[in-house]
Amino acid sequence: MIQLKIDREKCVACGECIADCVKQALEADPDGYPVMTEDGEAACFECQHCMAVCPTGALSVSGKNPEESMPLDNWPDGGQMEQLIRGRRSVRRYKNEPVDPPLVARMLDIVSSAPTARNNMRLTYSVVEDPAVMNKVRATAYRAVRKAADSGALPSGLEIFESYAERWESSGADTIFRGAPHLLIASSPSGGATPEADCVIGLSYFELLAQSMGIGTVWLGLGLWALTRICPELLARMNVPEDHTVGFVMGFGKPAVRYRRAVQRNGAVSVNRIFL
Ligand SMILES: Cc1cc2nc3c(=O)[nH]c(=O)nc-3n(C[C@H](O)[C@H](O)[C@H](O)COP(=O)(O)O)c2cc1C
Repeated sequence: MIQLKIDREKCVACGECIADCVKQALEADPDGYPVMTEDGEAACFECQHCMAVCPTGALSVSGKNPEESMPLDNWPDGGQMEQLIRGRRSVRRYKNEPVDPPLVARMLDIVSSAPTARNNMRLTYSVVEDPAVMNKVRATAYRAVRKAADSGALPSGLEIFESYAERWESSGADTIFRGAPHLLIASSPSGGATPEADCVIGLSYFELLAQSMGIGTVWLGLGLWALTRICPELLARMNVPEDHTVGFVMGFGKPAVRYRRAVQRNGAVSVNRIFL
């Protein structure tokens, strides 16, 4: 039930909500006020653009009170965003102390605002909050890598994981999870439109948000392969929903390193200007 409510005292019949509805689910009534079209209820995917765009806060949808929406009067400026994007680094040295669970919960709540295809919002963030649990994850993963290596069962292309197990065994250096005290596994229903992209976008937002809050992150492609291809039984124990595709894996925690300046990329990304 979409529940479109218009406060006629506040509505100025400007038509912005109608113009901004990607599903054309709204139309003007004879007085110019917005109403649902006949098919609107079925078409609406609850993006809430109608409520977000209303200049007077006259429109409520899906039971949301516009007064409870965050006001948009404090945008970071371009320079702040540039520093965030250029200054963010992969963190591979962490303090031996946990991030407060309420902060983790707040960060995940904020990144739940990241966009998803068709606004499906079906991501699950499976999180290791307790560093002691993360240590068990590490130990279990390296045991599985060792077992697979010894029995010649490492998946083709992942033979190098044997050297990661050797490093772990000889020095305790953790190549797969980079010593991160916390783990974040983003997954989304496999039948969705773009499960991997939804996960990677969510984690990209998480990474930048974390940086802005003094928390370090590292993308863990090696962790993804370890969990999905070498020790899926460990992944299964983590209660990631069975019908989900694991989009990516990220480590995070309080950084034990501070970067003083940005790196200088040498035109690593090429821009192809298209003319037709
Ligand atoms: C998709 C993806 C997978 C990555 N996987 C790993 C990984 O498994 N382990 C690791 O230490 N770093 C990993 N990284 C981090 C990259 O090595 C890093 O982003 C790159 O070297 C640039 O360094 P910076 O992030 O500090 O700018 C990954 C990055 C991306 C985007």
